[in-house]
Amino acid sequence: MSEQMLRSVLEKLTCWGSLTECTAPVNPKFEMGAVLSYYKSEKPILFRNVTGSDVPVIGGLYGNRQLMYRLLHTEAEARFDRILGAIARPGKPVYTASAPVQEHVITRGIDLPAMFPIPISNEKDSGPYLTSGMLAYRDPDSGHTYIAVRRFQVNGGNSINVLVSPASPYLQEVLQKCGEAGKDLPCAVILGYDASLLLTSQISSSRYHLDKYELDSALRGQPLELVRCKSVDLDVPAQAEIILEGVIHPHRVGAEGPFAELMGYYSAEEDSPLIELTAVTHRDRPIFQHCFPGREEHLAYGMIKEAEIYAALRPSVDVRDVNLTAGGGHRLHAVVSLHKRSEGDGKSAVLAVLGAYKDVKHVVVVDDDVDVYDPEDVEGAIASRFQAGRDLVVVSGALGSPLEPSYHERGMSDKLGLDATKPLGNRPEYERAEIPGFDRSFDIHRYLP
Ligand SMILES: Cc1cc2nc3c(=O)[nH]c(=O)nc-3n(C[C@H](O)[C@H](O)[C@H](O)COP(=O)(O)O)c2cc1C
Repeated sequence: MSEQMLRSVLEKLTCWGSLTECTAPVNPKFEMGAVLSYYKSEKPILFRNVTGSDVPVIGGLYGNRQLMYRLLHTEAEARFDRILGAIARPGKPVYTASAPVQEHVITRGIDLPAMFPIPISNEKDSGPYLTSGMLAYRDPDSGHTYIAVRRFQVNGGNSINVLVSPASPYLQEVLQKCGEAGKDLPCAVILGYDASLLLTSQISSSRYHLDKYELDSALRGQPLELVRCKSVDLDVPAQAEIILEGVIHPHRVGAEGPFAELMGYYSAEEDSPLIELTAVTHRDRPIFQHCFPGREEHLAYGMIKEAEIYAALRPSVDVRDVNLTAGGGHRLHAVVSLHKRSEGDGKSAVLAVLGAYKDVKHVVVVDDDVDVYDPEDVEGAIASRFQAGRDLVVVSGALGSPLEPSYHERGMSDKLGLDATKPLGNRPEYERAEIPGFDRSFDIHRYLP
């Protein structure tokens, strides 16, 4: 099953010429983040020469939409059915007794900062953070395993904090129940995963209550290979790089943050649950997975929300594509294209998008001749097909995303929708010129190799 997890991703990226190796010395404090964010976290970079450590670091892995599609063996149009199909029909994982991720097992004297080069990303961050770690826990009621990427503040020794955001109400509930029963919650942090597991991890457990390893087995089109942890009763991906095993003490909290998040805005210091690590397991010569926070991580989250918006629109309009844009943090701005069948389609789509996902503040609805990924094309549709007195929808004081600062003035968010579709019917004034035989996708390399 070598086609699973980080090593297989690196093989593919190398084969496609999409992996850059950096051999210059790079300090994990600030310098690494500066390099990753220079490329907007869209360029996978393997840092081989990390100051103060023998462990290489991979970053910028999953911030490029086209690479994500390629790694997932999907395309823009096919991705919705792929995601929605996995949710409708989960698969089954397989189990192995020995696994690469357990080539080394450390249970005593765990000192995380001494073992791995854990980056500090931004000036006012409270310290080093695991930004790509995926928390796994088993739901005591259903027995399902839930995994989700979360941020972990590294406190030294075997202590880390985990942030459990309001977007994870189910884990908050589980922790509360454990606290009331006086029990700890066994957990594991997974590092060194692939695009499928990342995407799976972004499917909400509160919404679907589906075992995420079963979901992943369906999404990847083959059983996910799992191995039993060494010190806790949990299973983890056998081919991962590093696993941190431990327990969350629901009543033991510690200060976490500040930490720069979406679009570089800081979240404030708050108390969050502490995790006590009981074992660290890793491959021979492990690679440490990192992402510069604030951008890369939101693409995977946005891709799941795009599929949910698509599913919400499909019963009422002929939706063609949905883009939660990079400029809106893959959360706050949506562009939707549709094949218009009735005059009300544009406005109905605005309402459906705003109702489907509370984080969206501004939505633009365009016809299917507009490329939702091309900001100039979208702007052109607004400039030429939209009339503010007729096509604008404004809603004041709705739910919103606490990850953007203007929300905090009232704890609410205003909503804006633009119906930038053209009127139905044969309207010659809306005809756009075309060059016969050359659509958008013609191969320019035939002319300029
Ligand atoms: C790189 C990355 C970092 C994230 N950081 C956090 C975090 O610190 N805390 C959190 O609760 N959610 C975080 N999220 C979002 C959750 O992973 C996401 O909401 C997930 O769907 C929650 O899963 P759940 O519904 O099973 O709890 C992050 C997502 C990504 C991709």
